[in-house]
Amino acid sequence: MQSYVIEGGYPLKGELVVQGSKNAALPLIAAAFLNEGITVLNGCPDISDVDNMLEIIRHLGCKAYKEKNSIIINGSLTDRDEIPADMVKSARGSMLFMGAVLARCGCISMDYPGGCMIGERPVNYHLDAFEKMGADVAYKSEGIKCTCAQLKGCTINLPFPSVGATENVILAAVKAKGATTIINAAMEPEIAELCRMLCMLGAEIEGIGSKIIIIKKGIKKRDIQYTVMSDRIAAGTYAYAAAAAGGDVCCIVNREDVMTGISVLCKRMGIKLVYGNDYVRIISGKKINSIPYIKTEPYPGFPTDMQSQLMSVLSMGDGISVIEESIFEKRYHIVGELLKMGADIRTKGSKAYIRGVRSLKGAVLDVKDLRGGAALIIAGLAADGTTTVLDPGYINRGYERIADNLSELGGNIHLA
Ligand code: EPZ
Repeated sequence: MQSYVIEGGYPLKGELVVQGSKNAALPLIAAAFLNEGITVLNGCPDISDVDNMLEIIRHLGCKAYKEKNSIIINGSLTDRDEIPADMVKSARGSMLFMGAVLARCGCISMDYPGGCMIGERPVNYHLDAFEKMGADVAYKSEGIKCTCAQLKGCTINLPFPSVGATENVILAAVKAKGATTIINAAMEPEIAELCRMLCMLGAEIEGIGSKIIIIKKGIKKRDIQYTVMSDRIAAGTYAYAAAAAGGDVCCIVNREDVMTGISVLCKRMGIKLVYGNDYVRIISGKKINSIPYIKTEPYPGFPTDMQSQLMSVLSMGDGISVIEESIFEKRYHIVGELLKMGADIRTKGSKAYIRGVRSLKGAVLDVKDLRGGAALIIAGLAADGTTTVLDPGYINRGYERIADNLSELGGNIHLA
């Protein structure tokens, strides 16, 4: 158990280089399994979800190692088409190997993936798509087995713009015979990153970043280097930390659209954003404006991965705010923890009703998921007194050096 000990009331000031995107790095590592050449991923975040993906790709027979924030993967050899349960249980990203291994090896056996317990998180869209591409899908007590000697391109109509299902179909389609069209594809920027890297490997993909993606041609063996985009959720998390604790923070990023879906809300809350070509500067307001209603939505809407962090900030807003979580059915874990700090929040179904209080008070808090953990750190930075955030290992699944980063910005936080 890791404990983050925070003394509230210290504003954040200074510059921060935002880590590489967790949700881009994971599919890019799965894509590297498809490349029989050498893939170098630069700007990868140093987080445990990435380490978990590297453990899996080594288990599958590839050589893979890290040099600071670069990952080098040699995909020339592979000698397994099964992934043991303990390797898939910790992170949802492991699911992305299903499409890649099925496409390259013609068979994949693995348990149902783990990840944050923010809902049931089924994988039916993924498996239905593989079946439509010609795979035989067998459900066993210990997981799933998919087999298909040669996947066939076809049209996949996703019932919901699922990020993981869109990525898994793309990973399968670049080795399929014939073109694949994905209708109602997710549009998160991390998917465009995956497409761009696959195009560097020779794939021909139309509609990158749109709801209709057509994979027309597959990949070839190549040695490539790719730089991972900045993590837009990490950037948004630091922006909300500055809003809650007060301050003026400059986030260095390598994509201009990093704050899409987050910036509009920042302005409505009274947070000033100043954009440069490789940074976004966050200047906190004198108070936090409440938000009468906000709903989490697929990209480019307000991201569900920022919902908990928003709740922490709005718990000190100047009125009543309402959040509706429309993506996951169990993503209000932090409500009970914020109530320990004196917040005034009640939930009814998918909605949370937040009456802002003048200030929160420090408390001992339990982390139950990745983004919720970051949200509790934000609350501690703003609270009166000492907050101890007890984390069984969720936060460093997705955030690189969060305590060091916040401390270097002036926050009074350390790992005990
Ligand atoms: C990805 O998860 C992200 N994870 C999540 O980030 C993110 O919250 C989510 O997309 C939504 O943006 C990674 O990229 C590794 P989905 P994913 O498939 O792919 C339902 C974080 O904190 N669904 O878009 O699992 C599902 O239950 C994590 O970084 C099905 O019903 O999300 C959910 O209600 C948390 N059947 C909705 O779709 C399926 O087969 C969206 O899920 C697949 C999904």
